[in-house]
Amino acid sequence: MIDTQAIRKCFPILSRKVNGKPLVYLDSASTSQKPDIVIDTVSDFYRNSCGNVHRGVHALTRETTELYEDARRTVARFIGAADPAEIIFTRNATEAIHMVAWSWAREHVGEGDEIVISEMEHHSNLVPWQILAKERGANLRFLGIGMDDTLEPGDLESLITPRTKLITVVHVSNTLGVINPVHEIIRIAARNGVPVFLDAAQSVPHLPVNVAELGCDFLAFSGHKMLGPAGIGVLWVSKNRQREMKPFLTGGGAIDQVGRDGATFNEAPYKFEAGTPAVADALGLAAAIDFLDEIGMENVRAHEEELTARALSSMSRIDGLSYYGPEQTALRSGVISFNVKGIEPYELGSYLDSHGVAIRAGDHCTQPLLRALGISSTARVSFYLYNTINEIDFFTGLVEKAAEDGI
Ligand SMILES: Cc1ncc(COP(=O)(O)O)c(C=O)c1O
Repeated sequence: MIDTQAIRKCFPILSRKVNGKPLVYLDSASTSQKPDIVIDTVSDFYRNSCGNVHRGVHALTRETTELYEDARRTVARFIGAADPAEIIFTRNATEAIHMVAWSWAREHVGEGDEIVISEMEHHSNLVPWQILAKERGANLRFLGIGMDDTLEPGDLESLITPRTKLITVVHVSNTLGVINPVHEIIRIAARNGVPVFLDAAQSVPHLPVNVAELGCDFLAFSGHKMLGPAGIGVLWVSKNRQREMKPFLTGGGAIDQVGRDGATFNEAPYKFEAGTPAVADALGLAAAIDFLDEIGMENVRAHEEELTARALSSMSRIDGLSYYGPEQTALRSGVISFNVKGIEPYELGSYLDSHGVAIRAGDHCTQPLLRALGISSTARVSFYLYNTINEIDFFTGLVEKAAEDGI
């Protein structure tokens, strides 16, 4: 079990007040808070080492390059990548998804081809595929959601055809909180020779994730949701698929030789990192990973499961409250979307904010999913390693009162 009080001391923002009340931050699925070590790593870089990477011979640029490549090795180790060259730094998960759509899928998806996706996707992992499909004359086919609110792998065999070029699904839903059966999905895909892209924006920060063990082809996540800075994300691509990818952006760093009429490209991963990268943010992400590693991802997961169980148990006793996603905590991460009869999610969010409790209200960038559920918005809480049982109780107590009073 983890020492939450000791962990909280590492996060300076958690001691501030909001609206005169102690901050209770329950919006980590949107973005996480940052420990001192991440904030200090970013500022130390600018104070002491700031140079560009892979350009020039002076001490600062050599040092910066070393730090940046160390950060890549840290990320690779964290997700079990076979080689640091499989790690491509991007701005965020959204950019990483676009890189797969532009650099790989545009070369491999043609007229009449099919991409299997789901209604549970964040817009960042839906709209790029809609655009690609339209442009190429390809079709999106939708994997169903089962009784337990997870994606239904049983449907996959019947959805896959000789025209299926990619399966792209969310590992953990940012709205339902479900942990999808991606091992089963990947097994079926592999049996049929179809590559799999995993949107891991909500899984890598909260669960142990190992790409070698998963056996997928592409995986994307964002630094800011896992204690790291905003502006850094990761696309992991297996070596074999990387060879099939064209550069996304071109220019400095991505290039080998340039003539008047054309260019040849650098090797991976540099080929996919054109322009000056967000070095300080990559170092901040590596510091965040070291922090998480020290606590242990199994412990992070166990703590969030305990918080989720407590929240669901209290929420299920509140009259007029309905939550979405499965009841079994083993099937869900620390994300709970819910509605209270007669109270708009935004109204509830503002009420909680007035008590210092930060939650999210809206469609969570999953409009097709909410439409399928017959709703247009929800309130959402999401937990992380720094949240406590007392905070959960404080939040559920306020919701209970709001439900009783109709606010
Ligand atoms: C499941 C999922 N995918 C993708 C994204 C996009 O992440 P980012 O905004 O960091 O690019 C999010 C963000 O909330 C998400 O929850």
